[in-house]
Amino acid sequence: MTKTLAPGARLEGKVAIVTGGGSGFGAAISRRFGQEGAKVILTDINVEGGLKVAAENPHNLVFQQMDVTKAEDWKTVMSLAFEKFGRLDILVNNAGTTYRNKPTEEVTEAEYERVFNVNVKGIFLGAQELMARLIQQGQGGSMINISSTGAARPRPGLVWYNASKGAVSNATKGLAAEYGKHNIRVNTVCPLLSGTGLFSMFTGMEDTPENREKFIGNVPLGRLTDPDDIANMCLYLASDEGSFVNGTEMIVDGGKCI
Ligand SMILES: NC(=O)c1ccc[n+]([C@@H]2O[C@H](COP(=O)([O-])OP(=O)(O)OC[C@H]3O[C@@H](n4cnc5c(N)ncnc54)[C@H](O)[C@@H]3O)[C@@H](O)[C@H]2O)c1
Repeated sequence: MTKTLAPGARLEGKVAIVTGGGSGFGAAISRRFGQEGAKVILTDINVEGGLKVAAENPHNLVFQQMDVTKAEDWKTVMSLAFEKFGRLDILVNNAGTTYRNKPTEEVTEAEYERVFNVNVKGIFLGAQELMARLIQQGQGGSMINISSTGAARPRPGLVWYNASKGAVSNATKGLAAEYGKHNIRVNTVCPLLSGTGLFSMFTGMEDTPENREKFIGNVPLGRLTDPDDIANMCLYLASDEGSFVNGTEMIVDGGKCI
């Protein structure tokens, strides 16, 4: 498993927004950023989960209810960053959704629309609201979009979820090219399957130790993704250590996609 690292100051003085911070990867990213000194506004439609994560570190974590598909929610959350902390440096577009693993002919139009609305339109709206504010602030910034190994390596059963992540990876490169001149870096992190809330949706199976075993057989490092693996990669991209990394897909998969 991923080692728990001692708290540090790699994000001291920075302000971050993390969407979908109420569970899974988003909760781990929010915690890790907070441990490294960032002020973090973690957002989610899931109020209970978001409040619980924020309560773990009230000094650095604040919860704000938000639906990433609503333009007005983006305005509210970004205004909050400036009102409360006076600046904004980092946006992690982590909120995501899927339908349960099944063939294309069984995917409903409503499921398709929900997946593209949350996974793609959410990032479009976030980028629209973020870029003007970062340009005005004039100190660059880091946008990190959580994509998937399925963006480049689609498999049966999740075709339209993976297509949405293909759009995320592609838009990320476009944004990196478009806003690099303002020192705004845009990168994706592509996780392999994890044991978070979405496990049974992705696999179409119950989340049991036996079912997990079925998936780790062809992972060279012999395990699924730990949320801290994703949090640590996001930390690198958000911090000044990643200051020349732009438009890259960071594959965090234990070697699965070799
Ligand atoms: N878990 C995996 O195996 C895996 C693999 C690759 C990529 N991902 C991606 O990682 C990201 C995080 O997923 P996770 O595994 O932590 O899942 P999760 O379900 O634990 O967390 C996703 C969070 O997003 C929130 N959310 C959903 N719709 C929202 C909306 N409209 N507005 C605001 N918040 C919303 C949910 O309430 C939830 O708290 C997603 O983008 C997912 O597609 C997950």
